[in-house]
Amino acid sequence: MSAFLVEGGRRLDGSVRVHGAKNSVLPILAAAFLADGESVIHNCPRLSDVAASLEILRHLGCGVRWEGDTVSVDASAPAGVDVPDALMREMRSSVIFLGAILGRMGRAQLCAPGGCELGPRPIDLHLAAIRTLGGTVEEEGGRLSCSGALTGGDVVLSIPSVGATENAMLAAVAAAGTTTITNAAREPEIVDLQEFLRTLGAKVRGAGSSVITVEGGKPLHGGEFTVMGDRIVAATYLAAAACAGGQVKVTGVDWRHLSTVTAVLTEAGCAVRSGRDCLAIRCEEPLRGVRPVRTAPYPGFPTDAQAILMAAMSRSEGTTLFVENIFESRYRHVDELTRMGADIRVEGRVAVVCGVPRLHGAAVRADDLRGGAALTLAALGAEGRSTITGLQHIDRGYQNLEGDLRKLGAEIRREEL
Ligand code: UD1
Repeated sequence: MSAFLVEGGRRLDGSVRVHGAKNSVLPILAAAFLADGESVIHNCPRLSDVAASLEILRHLGCGVRWEGDTVSVDASAPAGVDVPDALMREMRSSVIFLGAILGRMGRAQLCAPGGCELGPRPIDLHLAAIRTLGGTVEEEGGRLSCSGALTGGDVVLSIPSVGATENAMLAAVAAAGTTTITNAAREPEIVDLQEFLRTLGAKVRGAGSSVITVEGGKPLHGGEFTVMGDRIVAATYLAAAACAGGQVKVTGVDWRHLSTVTAVLTEAGCAVRSGRDCLAIRCEEPLRGVRPVRTAPYPGFPTDAQAILMAAMSRSEGTTLFVENIFESRYRHVDELTRMGADIRVEGRVAVVCGVPRLHGAAVRADDLRGGAALTLAALGAEGRSTITGLQHIDRGYQNLEGDLRKLGAEIRREEL
């Protein structure tokens, strides 16, 4: 079992570049299956979820190469219609392949993704979108079988689900005729997916707004694309500076994607500046408690940044309320932060964080990706040594968290226990 060993109390200082966005590259890799040709994708992060997606593409008959941060996917001779159960279990977001496989092959089979560390994550909206486009969906014994020649239609999402929006876009690109997706998610990753689909020759517009229009049914060719920088990784390094104190510059990210996060950090007393593709933060302790942080679909405060900001606010003057509106069970980091001396109480969707002057090192376990990052950040600002296990969760979303933090002056290393 590997673990991070962190010696807390070192100020951070320096500059770090974020890798490509996990939540952007995963749907883009699924989209590559729609192209009758080769897609060359740059700024592709080395993450276990990306490796799982490439495994799925290989299984579907694609030629796949991964050199440095460039991935090439040749989908000119597709030969499969299913996602193996093991890969489906490994990465819940492999459901994003549904629209692409069904669209390209007229058939798709996968096992229904189970619940995960954030609580139940249903896919009813994904399936409703597929049905609206004329696909039939049979659910039996935990398996989903979808089939049908898709045609354009009016997809109306009851909530702006990121994954359902992406699945609907991929299916719609293959569906003959015009599709509109109403109440679409507006996340920057959706815009990135639209831009990638356009490089393949698809006619998609409206991403970034609540209505996306797709004129589908045209054959797609290969293309070349560079994935956007990961806004949540950027938020993590900003929050790291808030936890440990110091000055950090984060490059390779669009600052406009992080306005709600930087607003909280500014209110807490950090000085944040933004440039063309960078953000810089200066944090002198102690932080001040802030007004309630409520997670919401983009452009609201991202649920993926809730845990890391909570780590920062754990050591502050005053009280901060967090309200988690997206996922039911996204406070699993709280008990572990409490082991480090944090004073946090959870009632349903609300966490009350009473800032304490000091955290102390402890042995803690990551139960999910962003919660694991939060524990690592808390350890940077804690007195003494911490051990963080459960790194397989963290590795799903950070290419080299410990290396980047070390570059900024943190004392952190990965060891086999
Ligand atoms: C994506 C991100 C994840 C982020 C989340 C919210 C990826 C790979 N993951 O996840 O990091 O935390 O957006 O910003 O991009 N829901 C339903 N039925 C559905 C689909 C979703 O009820 O069919 C609910 C979910 O349970 C959740 C809410 O909708 O409560 C939002 O989920 P969604 O936006 O779909 O998140 P994901 O796409 O799974």
